[in-house]
Amino acid sequence: MTMQRAHALLTDDAGEIDRRVFSDPDLFQMEMGKIFNKTWLFVGHESQIPQVGDFIQSRMGVDSVIVTRDREGTIRVLLNTCRHRGMKVCRYDEGNTRLFYCPYHAWTYDLSGRLVNLPHAENYESFDKARWSLKQAPHVTSFRGFIWATWDEAAQPFEEYLGDLRQPLWDGLGPWDGGDGEVEIISGTLKWIVPCNWKIIAENFAGDPLHEPSHASVNRVRLGPGGRRDPLGKLFLTHFPTGHGFVVEQFDPSVDRGFYAASPATAEYHRISMQKRYARLGERAGTPLVLGTVFPNAAIHTSQPRTLMVAHPLTADKTEMWRMFFVDKDAPQEVKDYLRRYYMAYGGPGGMTEQDDMENWTYAFQATLSDNCRTLPFNYGAALKMQPLDTQIAGTVSAELMSEQNTRNYYKVWAACMDKD
Ligand code: FES
Ligand SMILES: [Fe+2]
Repeated sequence: MTMQRAHALLTDDAGEIDRRVFSDPDLFQMEMGKIFNKTWLFVGHESQIPQVGDFIQSRMGVDSVIVTRDREGTIRVLLNTCRHRGMKVCRYDEGNTRLFYCPYHAWTYDLSGRLVNLPHAENYESFDKARWSLKQAPHVTSFRGFIWATWDEAAQPFEEYLGDLRQPLWDGLGPWDGGDGEVEIISGTLKWIVPCNWKIIAENFAGDPLHEPSHASVNRVRLGPGGRRDPLGKLFLTHFPTGHGFVVEQFDPSVDRGFYAASPATAEYHRISMQKRYARLGERAGTPLVLGTVFPNAAIHTSQPRTLMVAHPLTADKTEMWRMFFVDKDAPQEVKDYLRRYYMAYGGPGGMTEQDDMENWTYAFQATLSDNCRTLPFNYGAALKMQPLDTQIAGTVSAELMSEQNTRNYYKVWAACMDKD
């Protein structure tokens, strides 16, 4: 692998990207080391592991990890491979336990990943159990209940990694009323495999307003909180030096927008929450994040719906998508139920928008494979020469919404990670 190999596949001044970026197995292998072992990755939410001993099985890149709460209440992220001969020590999606017991030869670990028991220990010479703990992520952090981890000992703190995205993301991941309350993940993560490269999915959520025509049918059935899928305010694209890209909406937060007419309880809860939000956050309430991607693979919708998607790479040509939905923890059950139904009609494998998108992604990916297709670069050239807009919105804001600045930035950061020593 020669230096600058990844950069060589991007033509910055023309906004073109070589299709091999999406299909080359060597590049994929490199991504696992240079991106997934280096950046912060989303692994779960505190509401999924509220008690000591609670765990979920999650992923970091191609690796299975266990996210658990140990006896001291500390969140641990453990690599789910037995130190004896590799078997998964946890095969359940979620649960509560005191120990992780390997089904192969019964090596047993505690909630902190320490090896506490192994059969026939007397047959090993001077066995040092401490050397054979499960590997664990050296840095784990909870950002408003959302848990992120990295394998990189020298990683910058997560909030630095977010940079100027920190405040709007903090606002977006809290309850509707802008207070100190919590959100919770609606139980059950949707998981399914899409036959395409993980970046095609991640870049889509980083800010691609140009793909609006894909969702014409969804708009026609008026699926959305206000009878439309898209927000009603003015939209902006913004991106950040570590690769994150978001869509931001701007509107007058003092005006009730009459959302959720189909569910009076939800409409009322939303209206009252938004009044409180405006009182608490002021003008900030009028420029929320709509959706975006936290580099490299966590896509978050923070307005409507409220959902988090992770594009877990499996191979260059296969991605496991995980989607979870979140709601205010203190919302009435009727509101949670209504939102759950709306969210599932919107996103996930049976959701209308996701189906539109997946169709595009899988056909686009297939066209990175053949000799004929491979030589034709992809085009990311919209609004190439545009100067950033001077505004209060965080990040580098595009003066033109129908721009590909966020996706260009995403691949610039991707290439910088890949070409780093
Ligand atoms: S592989 Fe786990 S005990 Fe042998
Ligand atoms: Fe879409």
